[in-house]
Amino acid sequence: MKAAALSCLFGSTLAVAGAIESRKVHQKPLARSEPFYPSPWMNPNADGWAEAYAQAKSFVSQMTLLEKVNLTTGVGWGAEQCVGQVGAIPRLGLRSLCMHDSPLGIRGADYNSAFPSGQTVAATWDRGLMYRRGYAMGQEAKGKGINVLLGPVAGPLGRMPEGGRNWEGFAPDPVLTGIGMSETIKGIQDAGVIACAKHFIGNEQEHFRQVPEAQGYGYNISETLSSNIDDKTMHELYLWPFADAVRAGVGSVMCSYQQVNNSYACQNSKLLNDLLKNELGFQGFVMSDWQAQHTGAASAVAGLDMSMPGDTQFNTGVSFWGANLTLAVLNGTVPAYRLDDMAMRIMAALFKVTKTTDLEPINFSFWTDDTYGPIHWAAKQGYQEINSHVDVRADHGNLIREIAAKGTVLLKNTGSLPLNKPKFVAVIGEDAGSSPNGPNGCSDRGCNEGTLAMGWGSGTANYPYLVSPDAALQARAIQDGTRYESVLSNYAEEKTKALVSQANATAIVFVNADSGEGYINVDGNEGDRKNLTLWNNGDTLVKNVSSWCSNTIVVIHSVGPVLLTDWYDNPNITAILWAGLPGQESGNSITDVLYGKVNPAARSPFTWGKTRESYGADVLYKPNNGNGAPQQDFTEGVFIDYRYFDKVDDDSVIYEFGHGLSYTTFEYSNIRVVKSNVSEYRPTTGTTAQAPTFGNFSTDLEDYLFPKDEFPYIYQYIYPYLNTTDPRRASADPHYGQTAEEFLPPHATDDDPQPLLRSSGGNSPGGNRQLYDIVYTITADITNTGSVVGEEVPQLYVSLGGPEDPKVQLRDFDRMRIEPGETRQFTGRLTRRDLSNWDVTVQDWVISRYPKTAYVGRSSRKLDLKIELP
Ligand SMILES: *[C@@H]1O[C@H](CO)[C@@H](O)[C@H](O)[C@H]1NC(C)=O
Ligand SMILES: *[C@@H]1O[C@H](CO)[C@@H](O)[C@H](O)[C@H]1NC(C)=O
Ligand SMILES: *[C@@H]1O[C@H](CO)[C@@H](O)[C@H](O)[C@H]1NC(C)=O
Ligand SMILES: *[C@@H]1O[C@H](CO)[C@@H](O)[C@H](O)[C@H]1NC(C)=O
Ligand SMILES: *[C@@H]1O[C@H](CO)[C@@H](O)[C@H](O)[C@H]1NC(C)=O
Ligand SMILES: *[C@@H]1O[C@H](CO)[C@@H](O)[C@H](O)[C@H]1NC(C)=O
Ligand SMILES: *[C@@H]1O[C@H](CO)[C@@H](O)[C@H](O)[C@H]1NC(C)=O
Ligand SMILES: *[C@@H]1O[C@H](CO)[C@@H](O)[C@H](O)[C@H]1NC(C)=O
Ligand SMILES: *[C@@H]1O[C@H](CO)[C@@H](O)[C@H](O)[C@H]1NC(C)=O
Ligand SMILES: *[C@@H]1O[C@H](CO)[C@@H](O)[C@H](O)[C@H]1NC(C)=O
Ligand SMILES: *[C@@H]1O[C@H](CO)[C@@H](O)[C@H](O)[C@H]1NC(C)=O
Repeated sequence: MKAAALSCLFGSTLAVAGAIESRKVHQKPLARSEPFYPSPWMNPNADGWAEAYAQAKSFVSQMTLLEKVNLTTGVGWGAEQCVGQVGAIPRLGLRSLCMHDSPLGIRGADYNSAFPSGQTVAATWDRGLMYRRGYAMGQEAKGKGINVLLGPVAGPLGRMPEGGRNWEGFAPDPVLTGIGMSETIKGIQDAGVIACAKHFIGNEQEHFRQVPEAQGYGYNISETLSSNIDDKTMHELYLWPFADAVRAGVGSVMCSYQQVNNSYACQNSKLLNDLLKNELGFQGFVMSDWQAQHTGAASAVAGLDMSMPGDTQFNTGVSFWGANLTLAVLNGTVPAYRLDDMAMRIMAALFKVTKTTDLEPINFSFWTDDTYGPIHWAAKQGYQEINSHVDVRADHGNLIREIAAKGTVLLKNTGSLPLNKPKFVAVIGEDAGSSPNGPNGCSDRGCNEGTLAMGWGSGTANYPYLVSPDAALQARAIQDGTRYESVLSNYAEEKTKALVSQANATAIVFVNADSGEGYINVDGNEGDRKNLTLWNNGDTLVKNVSSWCSNTIVVIHSVGPVLLTDWYDNPNITAILWAGLPGQESGNSITDVLYGKVNPAARSPFTWGKTRESYGADVLYKPNNGNGAPQQDFTEGVFIDYRYFDKVDDDSVIYEFGHGLSYTTFEYSNIRVVKSNVSEYRPTTGTTAQAPTFGNFSTDLEDYLFPKDEFPYIYQYIYPYLNTTDPRRASADPHYGQTAEEFLPPHATDDDPQPLLRSSGGNSPGGNRQLYDIVYTITADITNTGSVVGEEVPQLYVSLGGPEDPKVQLRDFDRMRIEPGETRQFTGRLTRRDLSNWDVTVQDWVISRYPKTAYVGRSSRKLDLKIELP
């Protein structure tokens, strides 16, 4: 491999070189990652995987070396219809697998739905809705022939509110995100499509995630950002939701662009071999993010299983794998068992979810809306029907409307809501209207025009339609006999003032804030937000309207918190709602909430702070390590979002994590705790079996030549074949000839039985199964003391009691429908993991000796009930 590959692999080499180069800027030695080898092979007896393993074993045992390589290597950017595909196995009747975006629908297709964002479904705090959304997205993906849907997202978790892709994920809380991951994964996979938990891990900002991208906005860095995360923070915060994903049986995981401790996430053996595959016992496959692979043999032994989209950089026509992987196995650099394990993991994930290799055809093309065109888009070869325009939406519009309404948080209400046949409604703001360019006017939603219902980047889908708030509210007004006018501009001062100053006006102001992925710059925002204020003069608009109208209602569509500081407590602002990123039914959903058809019960999945600084951590916008990898030290540890606000400052919070109002009222009483009879924690012991191999292969290079007589060579297509029997020329790598001993770390090729980690799960994916034992069951009574039926979200928090522990941490919740006057019992559970800290010395979860307290309340700061844990 290249010299760069060498130094990336040996974290220390790079760390030392980097430190010398940059001593002036970054004073301390750079963080490094400990090597962990060999890469764990599949466990034939893992819970939920045994049948899939057996099926995969019989399939992979029939595969040739070339076929195995074909299955692991993408065929190149634009080589087939989906955003990523691997080689087919025609001899065994397996068509090319389709990997496709996104976490909220199908990217770049038509006749599909545009679902609410992950963050918006998180705000429902409703497991059932999370599952149903996943299932519906899975059904749509299946209908287009997608095999792996690239979501859901737990990285970013949301360390910084400015982070461009936070909205794709759930919340800056590991428990809420973990539940969002688990329900979404079960939904997608029950519909017959493999889910992909991404981006593993520490992918908290867009800036500097890719070198060429950073050059595009003026920074010449040699390596990508390094997220430097200590072991305790890794376990207690960032890895937690991925553990839930693995436990839910997720079939694939995507490793991220940036480095962790100065080692690329897609070749970091500590991350992939140790944490993911050994400790969490992940049995599925790891695919690279698109161009996040930087080495061939090194990434293979570090735990990568699939190269996406297969070429080294888009459209180079060459690959770190493909022919290079064929050669690396033939010349003994990458052990045969490692390639077999890659193939096993991919096939087992497929069998686990589909049971069959008889896959329906892919019937759309990401690259064009045309019906006919080149199936090999990059090569402009193979003209045929490539889009069948299959309508996969079913009745998902109703579900989308329900999720977005149930995900709308009522932050403030002094009595103006719900609306009841108001005399006159004046709707103000660009965000209430349609975009003059249509809902899909900007590619990958890379602009902010008209109402905002999703962010930008690869995490998007085309809208089949977008109901604007203006359209839906007007329709409702007509039905009620309400007078209705709207001014769909943020800058029409005179007209707005004249309108909202009139007697009897209910002014509803729509404002927004957008963000997205780093390859698109919108209004000076390189993916990450450059500020936390509203866009397009929104702040001034709210201030002005509320100075003219004493009944001003504010609706915010945004990718996370915005600063409300200057106006939230103005008495003329009678209500504030956060409607997240609602998807295609936006207007209908907000109308349902404003008029009380849906009684709000959503809870803010993040904190609304008074200033940008009040959040603590922020995006790194300028490189801090010369031309070397920018260094982002996660020095705040687990203290992000409410954990940070609770620790440092009680006054800088406007609306806390978990806050949300209803049109009725609830009372909390009668907290009780029951301790279960759980056995002592037993660390996992024992060893794995020896690494198995499946099938033999010839070492005659003649057998690996491109079969010219069978099919033509497609331009820029990545194949497993060699062009010549001279390995050096076939590889075209100037460093060809280095042996495993020369450049792989110790133990990288060992196939001996390996000791099991004490924290690992044995046969149970997700870590030691006793971590999930329920230790305490907490109950409380919730009474609806108002006059309308409503839903309440009781939240169970715990204090672990130690000096380094957050004041409280969310551990469980429920969303309960309660009739007026009715009392219902909330039940929350605390598992062993919920009560533990990660002990870096023991390398396991340990329950500290500090006294522990449980709280049940309506938000992270309204903890109505409290009980000591016996
Ligand atoms: C990163 O470095 C910290 C500090 O040495 C260490 O605790 C942590 O385990 C390392 N993480 C990885 C993934 O290498
Ligand atoms: C590899 O995949 C390509 C299509 O992606 C297919 O044409 C070729 O036959 C496959 N090779 C083998 C050995 O299966
Ligand atoms: C895709 O569309 C074609 C043509 O309508 C159809 O034959 C095929 O079954 C569809 N595939 C899936 C996965 O629905
Ligand atoms: C970027 O920096 C490298 C050395 O660090 C240098 O070789 C290269 O020319 C620079 N590129 C640009 C566009 O400045
Ligand atoms: C093999 O990988 C090297 C980079 O390590 C690359 O330069 C070369 O083009 C690759 N060969 C093929 C055939 O893709
Ligand atoms: C084996 O092949 C790999 C991939 O092309 C190459 O990097 C490595 O140097 C080769 N090693 C030997 C000993 O030929
Ligand atoms: C807000 O009011 C001020 C003062 O009347 C005016 O200068 C400004 O243009 C107004 N802005 C908006 C967005 O209405
Ligand atoms: C409308 O405004 C007038 C004048 O301020 C007031 O007398 C009347 O009560 C209002 N009606 C309603 C329905 O708000
Ligand atoms: C914050 O960024 C948005 C989007 O680029 C912009 O519209 C707004 O004016 C900025 N706010 C401030 C205070 O500069
Ligand atoms: C509230 O609105 C009235 C107009 O109805 C205006 O006179 C008053 O100044 C506003 N108050 C504030 C605090 O903006
Ligand atoms: C292999 O041969 C094909 C067909 O001649 C050519 O297009 C391609 O660039 C060659 N690849 C390498 C790595 O030499």
